[in-house]
Amino acid sequence: MRITIIGNGGREHALQWKLAQHGHAVAMTHASMSHDGHDAELVIIGPEAPLAEGIVDRLVQQGVRAFGPTQAAARLEASKAFAKEFMTRYGIPTARFAIFDSYAPAERHLQRADYPVVIKASGLAGGKGVVVPRDVAEAHAALHAIMRERAFGSAGDQVVIEERLEGPEVSLMAFCDGETVVPMLPAQDHKRALDGDQGPNTGGMGAFCPSPLLTPGDIDDCASRILQPAVRGMAREGAPYQGVLYAGLMLTKDGPKVLEFNCRFGDPEAQVVLPMLKTDLAEIANACIDGRLGAQTVEWHAGACACIVLASGGYPGTYRTGLPIQGLDHVPDDILIFHAGTRQDEGGWITDGGRVLGVAARGSTLRDALARAYAGVSHIHFAGMHYRRDIGARWLDT
Ligand SMILES: Nc1ncnc2c1ncn2[C@@H]1O[C@H](COP(=O)(O)OP(=O)(O)O)[C@@H](O)[C@H]1O
Ligand SMILES: [Mg+2]
Repeated sequence: MRITIIGNGGREHALQWKLAQHGHAVAMTHASMSHDGHDAELVIIGPEAPLAEGIVDRLVQQGVRAFGPTQAAARLEASKAFAKEFMTRYGIPTARFAIFDSYAPAERHLQRADYPVVIKASGLAGGKGVVVPRDVAEAHAALHAIMRERAFGSAGDQVVIEERLEGPEVSLMAFCDGETVVPMLPAQDHKRALDGDQGPNTGGMGAFCPSPLLTPGDIDDCASRILQPAVRGMAREGAPYQGVLYAGLMLTKDGPKVLEFNCRFGDPEAQVVLPMLKTDLAEIANACIDGRLGAQTVEWHAGACACIVLASGGYPGTYRTGLPIQGLDHVPDDILIFHAGTRQDEGGWITDGGRVLGVAARGSTLRDALARAYAGVSHIHFAGMHYRRDIGARWLDT
């Protein structure tokens, strides 16, 4: 098929690689460009922003087949307030919460709350709109920054103040056709910049899958208690959910609870889950669009996959770009290199973003996959390059 992918980061390069493996002709389009998908037989949307803006509604109106939720369905990610109230309506386990659309009542609520809280700008904030405050003073400062200083613009017009949960985090994504839900392998991301989960939050410094924290039985349980009720609920509310539904879960002592929904593949999770998918992704996407996912086989490779993100010096703060990347030619064939922030000039590949490359490998076990991915990393170099040495390490003996 002729397929267009919207977006151009690591996730989209993983999508492109996966589709090319099955013989599809894939073009990529920058997410910010207005898209006319007329020549594509299938359009797959990578990032959340165009989904929230209604790109799927537009493409479908033009008669283009698009894999991803409509604007109404993408509210599950684009409005955390909507998602929380939705979860309440359908009994989906999540942290206790309150929603505010002005500062004074939110401020009063903070003074009364007798539990540690998390403060969230409701709208899309590029993964920066959530504050987990260390103390009461920080909580007040975060609320002020979001609602008074408008640090995230209109994304902070509404705020969710919720109960702080505890436990490890797992990303569970699923294919959805509006009715049927097929979970993918669970994955784990590493958000902090430095080893030992130290340093500032990033877009993600590495990932692996499958996560040992969810057994196949647990995945079935999450499907029936979280993913299926969500898809059924959206259909009942007149916004059937087609595409990838991502549940960010915290495994608490009272069971898995939803921290958030995303309306697309996670990044870097896509870079480890897609290499584990055996079935042609275009086949699955078409089955989702046509509402026949229930009859579609979705098969996975055995073993595990790990991905190490190579970041620019200074990321997630300020960093230089335009630095030559050495060694890509020497990386063994079984290593997958997903370009996240690169550009080509006459001399070859140069850096062009904070997260520069994802280096992924499959292996018979997580240990094996990690060893291969790190062996791949050892060939690559650019000035200031930094990456975590401990991706997956904590979970090797789980
Ligand atoms: N209720 C909560 N309790 C504890 N930690 C939370 C809670 N909600 C969010 N977090 C932490 O904040 C991170 C970001 O929150 P999330 O809701 O996933 O928003 P986003 O990904 O849009 O920034 C989560 O990955 C988790 O580590
Ligand atoms: Mg998140």
